[in-house]
Amino acid sequence: MNQSFFIKTYGCQMNDYDSDKMEELLTFNGFNKVTNFEKSDVAILNTCHIRKKASDKLYSDLGRLSIFKENKNKLGKQMQIIVTGCVAQAEGEEIIKRNKSVDYVIGPQNFHIIPDLVRKKNSSKVYTDFLCEEKFESLPVSNVKNISRLVTIQEGCDKFCTFCVVPYTRGAEYSRPVEDIFAEVLQYSKFGTSEITLLGQNVSSYSSRIYEDSKKKEVPLSGLLKILSRISGLKRIRYLTSHPSDITDELISEHKKNKLVMPFLHLPIQSGSNEILKLMNRKHTKEEYLRIIKKIKKEVPKMAFSSDFIVGYPGESDTNFEETLDLIEKVGFASSYSFKYSPRPGTPASTKKNFIDESTSNMRLKKIQELLNKQQRYFNDSFIGKTMDVLISGKGKKENQYVGRTPYLQPVHIMSSKSLTGKILKIKIESLTSFSFHGKILN
Ligand code: 5AD
Ligand code: SF4
Repeated sequence: MNQSFFIKTYGCQMNDYDSDKMEELLTFNGFNKVTNFEKSDVAILNTCHIRKKASDKLYSDLGRLSIFKENKNKLGKQMQIIVTGCVAQAEGEEIIKRNKSVDYVIGPQNFHIIPDLVRKKNSSKVYTDFLCEEKFESLPVSNVKNISRLVTIQEGCDKFCTFCVVPYTRGAEYSRPVEDIFAEVLQYSKFGTSEITLLGQNVSSYSSRIYEDSKKKEVPLSGLLKILSRISGLKRIRYLTSHPSDITDELISEHKKNKLVMPFLHLPIQSGSNEILKLMNRKHTKEEYLRIIKKIKKEVPKMAFSSDFIVGYPGESDTNFEETLDLIEKVGFASSYSFKYSPRPGTPASTKKNFIDESTSNMRLKKIQELLNKQQRYFNDSFIGKTMDVLISGKGKKENQYVGRTPYLQPVHIMSSKSLTGKILKIKIESLTSFSFHGKILN
């Protein structure tokens, strides 16, 4: 009988993509996907290391899983536990020392070896080399119909923000070749994908080379968007995450000219204080950030923005925090993520002495989230009564209900007795409940 597997994914969309790829790889190799750990022969925990809370989850889940494995072994059944993702890369051997039931620890650039490893039962337990190129070459492309697909185009980061583990867990920046990305997206579109989200820790610094007129020519993100939009059947292209220092005029111009590129940009700034931005090694000031936003809005007036913020970075004063609130007021974000600073082992910021106390950080987080939520509501309210293009991704929970997304990723619910999946429809937005719209089809 075929072996079964279950993958639990923690953290960001890069991990979602990796988990999808692991699933495709295992299915391709004859493994069966099951719906929970209890039914699985191979349990994979695809982990996140970005904040302490995220990596702590691994150990609490491992505690439960190891008891389960023990009970299974008592009944004469086998189970293999594999830890993948960024905690695997960062902690390696340490994970097995903390929990002996773990069979393998596999970094984000090594998961292509899983099928082989599971079958052959290798003596070596930890795999954390940076094998980005080899990994992408070994991955199959799924033929499952999905209206929206994630596509990793770039991995790793050379920016070294002082709070962030990514340059250590995902390694140096690597851009996948244009031809490979094109082939993957083409395949997806043939199987019915209408929307792709190009992923990378730093997609805005994407750079690859192709031959054109017998010369090697550099293709930046803007060029890649242009090339991918030639794929027939593709209706929408998104990308994330971008760094403010890498936003080029060509990229802005692509947003202006290319109808497939959605007018929604995730552009993290982290803090609105120049003093803190400098300490964070963000390589840009608040004024530069505001200038980019202004320039984009001038070229593409309907563009909306989201961002990431960290509160309580070591040394952040009340004034520094007020400056962040002020920046938020100035920009007006459509949605955003905000986090309490979490010291990560091995990062420069974690060695600082001037940590901000928990209650101050909590207070700042509450305040920033109130403001960001208020802005999100204001942004969403502005669409009530208006008509929006909605890409229908599938059925909703209720009978005859369909769910879709606007260009700004707002969820929309529509009632219809006919199948709408995969269509882009003009929807009149009638109401808003928490953060999702309800509307009706026009025509
Ligand atoms: N503490 C809190 N938030 C962090 N992020 C990255 N590292 C940390 C950290 N040490 C946040 C940043 C980043 C997002 C993905 O996670 O805001 O943009
Ligand atoms: Fe981390 Fe993003 Fe900074 Fe890179 S640019 S170090 S991924 S926060």
